[in-house]
Amino acid sequence: MALRKLLSAQQIDRRVRELGAEIEADYPDGRLVLVCILKGASIFCADLLRAIKRDVAIDFLSVASYGDAKTSSGQVAVKKDLDKEIEGAHVLIVEDIVDSGITLDYLTRVLAQRKPLSLAIAALLDKPERRVREVEVKYVGFTIADEFVVGYGLDHAERYRNLPDVCVLKETSA
Ligand code: IMP
Ligand code: MG
Repeated sequence: MALRKLLSAQQIDRRVRELGAEIEADYPDGRLVLVCILKGASIFCADLLRAIKRDVAIDFLSVASYGDAKTSSGQVAVKKDLDKEIEGAHVLIVEDIVDSGITLDYLTRVLAQRKPLSLAIAALLDKPERRVREVEVKYVGFTIADEFVVGYGLDHAERYRNLPDVCVLKETSA
């Protein structure tokens, strides 16, 4: 496996601060909850949380997804649910990457049923070429090509989450 740097830690840091400022401006009042989708979004969400200079809560949700493969199973289930109710709150789902859109399509349906005041998505990365389900992503960090990426929270078989940069993971022959 070989790694090629796609987005530097500095680029990511700058973009996350911009998103934080945008979110802050878009939500002047009301209860704001960031819903961090474990585990991939954990690092992005921690940085985004600190870039939002207003009262903001964080909660965590875990879904069964990829396993160790690089393609979606097409099936999603909640493995760990939120700790608190979100009724009446502005809810921002924070995800690492939107690929097929299956995960977020499912999650928006689940969370919408709980009557939040508003529901939107923030994703660090968007791979629109691979979209199977239509999802509206309000805040996108970077739009990328159809390549498998790791780092800054994103993994391949639980590895590489600790890389400060986002890198393309290439299979190397031999
Ligand atoms: P979707 O349901 O196909 O949109 O898949 C979303 C999830 O798949 C993300 O939250 C990631 O966990 C995983 N995923 C999709 N593409 C990549 C990638 O390039 N690198 C690492 N994980 C990915
Ligand atoms: Mg994920």
